This record gives sequence, structure tokens and C-alpha cells, in this order.
Amino acid sequence: MMVCEYKPGLEGIPAAQSSISYVDGQKGILEYRGIRIEELAAKSTFLETAYLLIWGELPSKEELKAFEEEVRLHRRIKYRIRDMMKCFPESGHPMDALQASAAALGLFYSLRDLHNPAYIRDSVVRLIATIPTMVAAFQLMRKGNDPVKPRDDLDYSANFLYMLHEKEPDALAAKIFDICLILHVEHTMNASTFSARVTASTLTDPYAVVASAVGTLGGPLHGGANEEVIQMLEEIGSVENVRPYVEERLQNKQKLMGFGHRVYKVKDPRAIILQELAEQLFDKFGGDKYYEIAQEMERVVEEKLGHKGIYPNVDFYSGLVYRKMGIPTDLFTPIFAIARVAGWLAHWKEQLAENRIFRPTQVYNGKHEVPYTPLDQR
Ligand code: CMC
Repeated sequence: MMVCEYKPGLEGIPAAQSSISYVDGQKGILEYRGIRIEELAAKSTFLETAYLLIWGELPSKEELKAFEEEVRLHRRIKYRIRDMMKCFPESGHPMDALQASAAALGLFYSLRDLHNPAYIRDSVVRLIATIPTMVAAFQLMRKGNDPVKPRDDLDYSANFLYMLHEKEPDALAAKIFDICLILHVEHTMNASTFSARVTASTLTDPYAVVASAVGTLGGPLHGGANEEVIQMLEEIGSVENVRPYVEERLQNKQKLMGFGHRVYKVKDPRAIILQELAEQLFDKFGGDKYYEIAQEMERVVEEKLGHKGIYPNVDFYSGLVYRKMGIPTDLFTPIFAIARVAGWLAHWKEQLAENRIFRPTQVYNGKHEVPYTPLDQR
């Protein structure tokens, strides 16, 4: 067997062949199935982009209508899932609630028929349709309220915001939210997608695939960074405090949340669009002092770390967008998951098409031939 060099974090090591998305980290390019995200953000919708990623081509008018209709029909969650979620502690993190709820779907839809295209489609539709309902339901139930039923006359993103705030959202906010989902839906072999593919490779059910990916997304080095960015901006508190804050963190060898990326060495193209979206919201609904802090932070970090290729990533401006929409900070990562579930499912489908179970090796650096010491001699 060929012996390869060990690379911590598997940096630069291909874990799969994939035609789902492409990143050029030097030029700041991101494409889904070959289409630039700037174009999809300007012209597509989240459900159309999800279809593109999962089935490989943009849908025809009829295909899109059918897919949207199926998703609409599956938005409701079973009352037993709702009841289960009611028992979750309200102090628990919504990502943990989401992971448990996604895994629980496997209990209710336990038939596993991975070679049947109808099963694949049903699972895709069910997961894309119910994850937003579960996120919104937990948010209301942890406040002691009953969840709000989905509204069939609202499209995907408007319905989520409606279920969350119990009122019909502003049209611009709903449109911007939908674009945010497009920007977060897929991103090559990131940690949660890798996790999804490893789980998929065991031929388990798609609910377990998504639950494992949700667990991976939650960490602060991955999707959880968007929450920490807002906490960091709040801690900084004023434009004048930006420079001393950045300098102190760098001196203490601490990371600045929302900056840096394994692949991008320029400003993340998603951060560029998210910043524009934030500005559109501020124009309509009034500014946010944290935006000024964020802009100053971007300037100072570029001055200090630009030479290392450290620039804002997708998580830097997304929180400011969600904050302006009145979304609580700890829902930012579940919203990332609402989008990314379609990407994970595209990888699930691709993995199944040419599956071989993931079973990497390791470089053993432990002891050998160690004698067993009896308990009374330890
Ligand atoms: N702040 C300060 N220094 C940084 C940062 C940062 N955010 N990111 C990287 N560096 C420095 C790091 O200290 C190291 O410097 P040196 O070579 O002098 O020791 C160098 O850059 C390489 O860093 P690394 O941690 O080895 O890079 P990585 O590719 O393993 O990590 C990362 C990538 C995204 C985990 C990292 O940049 C990071 O921790 N960023 C902050 C958390 C964050 O914003 N995460 C969201 C990532 S994007 C969306 C997502 O994946 O969900």
C-alpha cells in the first residue's frame, strides 16, 4: 500500500470526486454545477438552486413547479415530533434541538430504500421541507408558545420568517433571506459535508446523514462562527475599540471570528454579496452601529493579516443581515443548516451513486507490547 504524508485537517487531500460545486480560493470564485453564485444570487431562488445541486441541472418550469409544490405539501411536522420537541429544555442550543429532531425523522420514516429514486426524492423533499418548520417550532416552543403552522400561500423563505415571527415578513427581507440561503447551500468538501459523506458511505438513512452533518456544522470553527461574530462585535462595542481588540487577540494568538478560510485567500465571494444585502436592509430599515464596527474591523484585519490571505468569510456579514431581520443570534447556525441541508443531500446522492465506505488510515504514534498492570498495582 502507498504510504502518504499525514496532513493535519486533511488539507489539500481530495476526499471525493464531485461535480456539485467548485471553489477557486485565489480568485474568489464559487460555482454551483458550473454556475457562478453571483448569478444564482441575482436570478435564482433557493428551491431552484437546491434542485440544481441535487439533480444536476436547472429544472424546467414544470419540474420547478412540481418540486415547489411537493416541498409545500411536506412542510408540516407530525404532532409526535412537535410533542417530542416540547420536551427539549428551553435552555438548550437550537442546533442541538435541530440535530435531535432531524435524527428523529428517521424513526418516523424508517423504511430504507436507497436504490429507489422515489425514496431519494421523498427524503430530499421531506428534509428540505421540514427542517425550517422544526427550527421555527423550537424557537416558539422554547418561549412557551405553540408553534405556528406553515402557510401554503407563502413561498419557502417567506413562510419560514412567518413561522418564526408569527407575522408575514416584509417582501424585501424575505427575498434577501432567500438569497442568504442560496449563498449558504453548498461549499465543496467542508467539514459538515465531509461528515455527511462519511455517514452516507455506510448506507445509513438520510436522516442520520443530515443529523451528523448538523452536529458538525455547529462548531465555532465552522457554521457556529456566525454567532460568535455578533458576540465579538458586541464585545468590541465601538469603532475606537476595534484596533486595540484586534491587536490584543492577535497578541494572545486568538482567532478573529468570521475571518480566514482554508480555501479562500481573498475575501469570500459570499461575504461580498452578504455585505451588499446588509446594506440594502440598512437602507430600508435603518443602519446598525455594529456594521460600522464590522467595516472598521475588516480594514484593520486586512492591514494586519492581509499578507496571510485572511479576509472576511461567509460568516462575517451574515449575522448582521439576520440581526436586522430580528432573528435571535443562536438561530444563525440553524439557518445555515436550513440552507446547507440541500448541499448535504446533493452529496448524499452523489456518494450513493459511486459508493465506497470511508475507511481512511492513521499514523499510529502510540506504544506497543505494553504489559497489563493489575489494578492493585496501579
Ligand atoms: N484570526 C486570526 N488568525 C487567523 C485566523 C483568524 N480568524 N484564521 C487563520 N489565522 C492564522 C492562523 O493563526 C495561522 O497563522 P500562523 O500560520 O502564523 O500560525 C494561519 O492563519 C493559518 O490558520 P489555520 O487555523 O491553520 O487555518 P485553517 O485552514 O486550519 O483554518 C479556519 C481555517 C476557517 C478554521 C480559520 O481561519 C478560523 O479559525 N477562522 C475563524 C473561525 C471562522 O470564522 N470560521 C468560519 C469559517 S468559513 C464558514 C464555515 O466553514 O462554516
